[in-house]
Amino acid sequence: MSQYSEEIKRRRTFAIVSHPDAGKTTLTEKLLLFGGAIHVAGAVKSNKIKKTATSDWMEIEKQRGISVATSVMAFDYEDHKVNILDTPGHQDFAEDTFRTLTAVDSVIIVIDIAKGVEAQTRKLMEVCRMRKTPVIVFVNKMDRDGKDPFDLLDEIEEELHINVRPLSWPIDMGQRFKGVYNIYEQKLDLYTPSKQYVTEKIEFRDINSPELENHIGDTLADKLRADIELIEGVYPEFDVDTYLRGDIAPVFFGSALNNFGVKELLDCFVKIAPSPRPIQAVERVVDPEEDNFTGFIFKIHANMDPNHRSCIAFVKICSGRFERNAPYKHVRFGKQMRFSSPTAFMAQKKETVDEAFAGDIIGLPDTGNFKIGDTLTGGEELHFKGLPSFSPEMFKYIENADPMKAKQLNKGIEQLMDEGVAQLFTNQFNGRKIIGTVGQLQFEVIQYRLLHEYGAQCKWEPISLYKACWIESENRTALENFKKRKSQYMAVDKEGRDVYLADSGYVLTMAQQDFPDIKFHFTSEF
Ligand code: G4P
Repeated sequence: MSQYSEEIKRRRTFAIVSHPDAGKTTLTEKLLLFGGAIHVAGAVKSNKIKKTATSDWMEIEKQRGISVATSVMAFDYEDHKVNILDTPGHQDFAEDTFRTLTAVDSVIIVIDIAKGVEAQTRKLMEVCRMRKTPVIVFVNKMDRDGKDPFDLLDEIEEELHINVRPLSWPIDMGQRFKGVYNIYEQKLDLYTPSKQYVTEKIEFRDINSPELENHIGDTLADKLRADIELIEGVYPEFDVDTYLRGDIAPVFFGSALNNFGVKELLDCFVKIAPSPRPIQAVERVVDPEEDNFTGFIFKIHANMDPNHRSCIAFVKICSGRFERNAPYKHVRFGKQMRFSSPTAFMAQKKETVDEAFAGDIIGLPDTGNFKIGDTLTGGEELHFKGLPSFSPEMFKYIENADPMKAKQLNKGIEQLMDEGVAQLFTNQFNGRKIIGTVGQLQFEVIQYRLLHEYGAQCKWEPISLYKACWIESENRTALENFKKRKSQYMAVDKEGRDVYLADSGYVLTMAQQDFPDIKFHFTSEF
């Protein structure tokens, strides 16, 4: 048992994710209000990036300063230390979000009652499932008309491939929304449709009591009783361990904008959500309560000042205690480093900290020493497993537009890739470099940053590709055959792994059929 046990156990490190516009920013803000981390609504603006036109890169550049400050939002709530990790709202930065998910111990997914499960939600849930991350679902915008709650639960189960268990239940919706019955606390939470209003809570252990009619009227009381009976009949009893294993997602209903159901969510969240969990490294499983410090870099944030290529590397502390100025081992370099100004993010302020514990995120000022996935330890030779890269969906050849600056261009590309801005593939047939991204915006980001940070100019040339996938096979001959047959479409990624560039969905399906011995992977973690 670690001397830091108590500190570590009280930590709750999580991310709120959603399809854009479901209400993630609003919910984050309301949680911060409860935690006393901010005092007025409207203070969290980082996600407003998405509101700008897709290609307005300058606007995004401006916003980046803000999003450093809101990358992690920490506050104390009751006996807990809550760390909320912000994820970019813009779809083109989905890869950033995926990586942030590797640094959290649990996730809250926000779903819009009217829209139901949307594309981005599906993708994010895939990542959670892959990592067995415990998930709580918050169904938002109950003050608007939307889908029937039972239908929505079916949709969530079907589309997100996870079992659900409602822990609160809405009483009507839209303009007639009366509130929720909080199944978890056995309370009737009545809704007052005025913003920032604290909910009226009525202890209500027995929903069969005729008192119910006095609060919500005959029709709704009957309906609520019938609904709850159905829920108890259809869904299994809520079991915290099943949730912690990532096998069931508790569901809450509310309205973030009206601050309804948010405190209930937070209260339940701090009780059931996991404290820092053991993490699998290549060599062994690392327990957060070990005395020795370990951590990994999951995000690198470039500085806005183009004259100094300085960044902030975000470290998730996986075990023990991090201390300012103590010597830590940068495992990839095999060298000791000391950090004199690590920053933490409390109450939206970035400040230098002397110590931090497993579960916390700290920012380390960096001048190019780190890349995503790097491990830091107290001395142990340890490697946290690489963070998954996903098959990109957009591709362009990158070419040098200024022959005098070839070196700068190569260095820039390399460092931007280390930061995880996009993925680089080198075509083995013609040696050309291909950049793969999840969104159009990244190409602009890369071009802009190459110019402003490295003084290099690039130009893009079109390439028509459908998907890049990593391939492997235990059958060497089959692998060689495949590579020979597809030689024009073979590339290697930055780590030198074989990547097949399929130019259409049809070709990919045919390749999968024709080469049964080859495994095609759509994430780099396999
Ligand atoms: P996001 O971060 O998931 O992208 O969503 P965000 O919180 O920015 O919310 C998207 C829009 O939905 C915002 O309106 C927000 O006010 C609204 N919203 C959030 N929660 C609720 C809710 O419970 N009920 C209703 N009716 N609306 C909600 P907007 O007009 O796009 O932005 P804003 O100008 O109000 O900031």
